[in-house]
Amino acid sequence: MFLRCDQTPQWPGLKARFSHEGKRFDLRQAFADDAQRFAHFSQAAPHLFADLSKNLWDRPTEALLLDMARSCGLEQRRDAMLHGEPINTTEGRAVLHTLLRRPAGQVLPGDLPGIAPALAEVHTTLDAMLAFADRMRADDGITDVVNIGIGGSDLGPHMAVLALDACRAPGKRFHFVSNADGHELAGVLRLLRPQSTLFLVASKTFTTAETMTNARSCLAWFAEQGGADVARHFVALTAQPDAAKALGITRSFGFWDWVGGRYSLWSSIGLALAISIGAAGFRGLLAGGHAMDEYFRTAPLAANLPVRLGLLDVWYRNFHGFTSRCVAPYHAGLRRWSAYLQQLEMESNGKRVDASGEALAYATSPVLWGEPGTNGQHAFFQMLHQGSDVLPLEIVAVRKPAHSLAGHHDQVLANALAQAQALMVGKASDDGHRHFPGNRPSTFLLLESLTPESLGALIALQEHRVFVSGALWGINSFDQWGVELGKVLARDLQQRLASGDALGLDASTAGLLHRLRG
Ligand code: F6P
Repeated sequence: MFLRCDQTPQWPGLKARFSHEGKRFDLRQAFADDAQRFAHFSQAAPHLFADLSKNLWDRPTEALLLDMARSCGLEQRRDAMLHGEPINTTEGRAVLHTLLRRPAGQVLPGDLPGIAPALAEVHTTLDAMLAFADRMRADDGITDVVNIGIGGSDLGPHMAVLALDACRAPGKRFHFVSNADGHELAGVLRLLRPQSTLFLVASKTFTTAETMTNARSCLAWFAEQGGADVARHFVALTAQPDAAKALGITRSFGFWDWVGGRYSLWSSIGLALAISIGAAGFRGLLAGGHAMDEYFRTAPLAANLPVRLGLLDVWYRNFHGFTSRCVAPYHAGLRRWSAYLQQLEMESNGKRVDASGEALAYATSPVLWGEPGTNGQHAFFQMLHQGSDVLPLEIVAVRKPAHSLAGHHDQVLANALAQAQALMVGKASDDGHRHFPGNRPSTFLLLESLTPESLGALIALQEHRVFVSGALWGINSFDQWGVELGKVLARDLQQRLASGDALGLDASTAGLLHRLRG
């Protein structure tokens, strides 16, 4: 049995450290005291560089956090995941999204016996999926690709297609329909012609209500518009191909129950992205992810970026008591980055019990939120600088742009740098309104350019960082029981909306039901 963070000998030491040094910690003083601070808290990792030095911690605190991670068995927990142990205990499953990006034939010492055949299947499916993607990419008869899916079957491909727009197949448009609200689908269907549209129905379970409703409506629209050849125009991306067949969709690309929805971009759920950037681009994304996996697996904890970020997250949440993290990508292509991270982190670590079901006495996932810089600067950054809460900021910047417009990119990079600097240094004024307290933390992640490889590494970094904090918190980061109750009640209420039956409902729900029925 592994220890939770609060069961380790380091936990009281960290509490004491926070009460003494932690509360009074001043970033400006820390830089004055330690000429090597930037060097120490800089971390190179595959395809990216991180500056962690503008955070509210020092070397002794980090050393204690590292010891706590060792006491929690972080390395053994990591290896258990990578080698295929069924660490998703509430669902009795392995957690093997990393296998989706492993090169063919690469078996690691310690892998469970099922890994080699699973990896062979991964590559057979990947090759078929990518051959199809390249055929569709080259097919001028297909102008529009519509991904129908929600949660992990939408957020990953949607975020990545936008991020890698510079590599998008010329002449193709990509649409993402996730919401059950027909306003979304109707707005997309207005733009389409059946003979030039490819629908991708993306759902691991092929039972998700929103996706099934949208898929049925698309099939009906296709028939009404005189569309012929459903087999050419509809493809299912699912672990349940029989359910897709029952809906009339015969072509499907599969994946496995050991791929969680929010970790499924790397599987056939990534088909929209593969059509957009091509097979070679998609293989680049996988290679970037794999490079980060290898680094996470082999780098010493003290020089391991996902580990350092995960430890910082625990320090902020459980000692400083910070409740959220603001995410600001300084790249317009990353405009779905915070939405993507919200599912990754909050669905994984938004848990109130440990892996054995015991209630926790400490907080877990922070709230993640944000918008691309510089837009956020003209909206909520006021609160980051002068609000009553400290809200750690995480910037993602990209050194080289993928466009040649003069003057833009320097402005973007200067703003990213200026925000991190202003948050830290602040500005004293006798006028309270104009006073900036400073000492506000930020992390700066820097990519050389936004490519399939660097995006793959950036995503895998975040996946592993979520794993690290979840492991220290002792929770199962790979289930999501919290989404079930609302689904069950929605099914019941949909029937009640039709019938008007409010029997047994609480007074508020009954009152609203009557209003909604008009
Ligand atoms: O309801 C939550 C969830 O299960 C997510 O975890 C998942 O990514 C999403 O729904 C979509 O599920 P599916 O791919 O099975 O349609």
